[in-house]
Amino acid sequence: MKNEIAQKFKNLYGAEPLVVRSPGRINIIGEHTDYNDGFVLPAAIDKAAYLAIALRDDDEIHLKAEDMNETFSISIKELKPVGDIGWPNYILGSVAQFIKKGIPLKGFNALLTSDVPIGAGLSSSAAVECATTFALNELFSTHYDRIEMVKMSQKAEHEYAGVMCGIMDQFASMMGKKDHVIKLDCHSLEYEYVPFKLDGIKILLLDTNIKHSLASSEYNTRRKECAQAVEWIKEHEPNVNSLRDVTEEMLDKYVFPKDELIDKRSRFVVQEINRLQKACEDLKKGDIDAMGKKMFATHDGLSEMYSVSCDELDYLINFVRNNDAVIGARMMGGGFGGCTINLVKENAVPGLIKDISAQYEKHNGIKLDAYVVSISDGTEIM
Ligand code: GLA
Repeated sequence: MKNEIAQKFKNLYGAEPLVVRSPGRINIIGEHTDYNDGFVLPAAIDKAAYLAIALRDDDEIHLKAEDMNETFSISIKELKPVGDIGWPNYILGSVAQFIKKGIPLKGFNALLTSDVPIGAGLSSSAAVECATTFALNELFSTHYDRIEMVKMSQKAEHEYAGVMCGIMDQFASMMGKKDHVIKLDCHSLEYEYVPFKLDGIKILLLDTNIKHSLASSEYNTRRKECAQAVEWIKEHEPNVNSLRDVTEEMLDKYVFPKDELIDKRSRFVVQEINRLQKACEDLKKGDIDAMGKKMFATHDGLSEMYSVSCDELDYLINFVRNNDAVIGARMMGGGFGGCTINLVKENAVPGLIKDISAQYEKHNGIKLDAYVVSISDGTEIM
């Protein structure tokens, strides 16, 4: 991949580039918990964004997205989010973070290519943000550490893509470690790598091919619903600062009587934070079956309480629910489309893909895509 993109860059811009790879991510359990100061259990995958980049002598930024055959250019002095095409924003948003820190940036040329499916809930945008931040940190010798670069990449998403995402996606892309999941405390940012090499079990992603167009507006709404619950509880429990600090008893007392919908949303999050802790214990004990059951429970909560699933995601989960070869499965990521994550016994994978693809297409009139992924290292120079 490195030689290929470097050669294309040379043909296009006539210079030798730096090439940075930054992966997409999966998340085993702990969904919609990151912006509630809870825990998540993500990992970087072997699908990534690749950014080839070299400095220019002027203040211009020239970009090309190889896969879409689109170009974009802007002067650093006029840096702002762009409206009609989305992908430059992930790069420009990262540039903006350096400028906000007072770094005197020069212009650059960049060529982007990625095999992270877009809109599939695999954080294709975080991959581009992290690749850009990492590359600029290198080119301008700014020496930010990885955690600082995670935060900068998250801000790029907030400010240039308008999604008030939590920290999980950028953290997983930047900090991933081969064959390990990251147990991340989104409040303190303390983290632990937990080995995740399951003998005879594969990670199968099934992509509904429903693009989550509702996702960003509904995502921001969920954030507000969670904040509302915290505000009501805080009137009585001043030490509560996020749903991380909340118990179901507090919800019974202070939220349910006021608003059943807000109660349902926040109760899912409180349960999910606890579920993740127990799932991590299962994983460390090697009790994969118990962890898998919790993944199904997470799906049900996301679908029925948090209302971020859709018919196609539910269809895929119901299809595998009683299949003995499927240890656990759930929708993954922000929701309203994208992928399900399935832990499947290796020898059953080809048969399952064949069956579920045929049935999905028949039932929903849409093609299903299937990816068997493995857990990879995070952002790196190639
Ligand atoms: C999106 C966001 C993440 C996280 C997930 C849901 O991927 O970018 O920060 O909130 O949704 O868990």
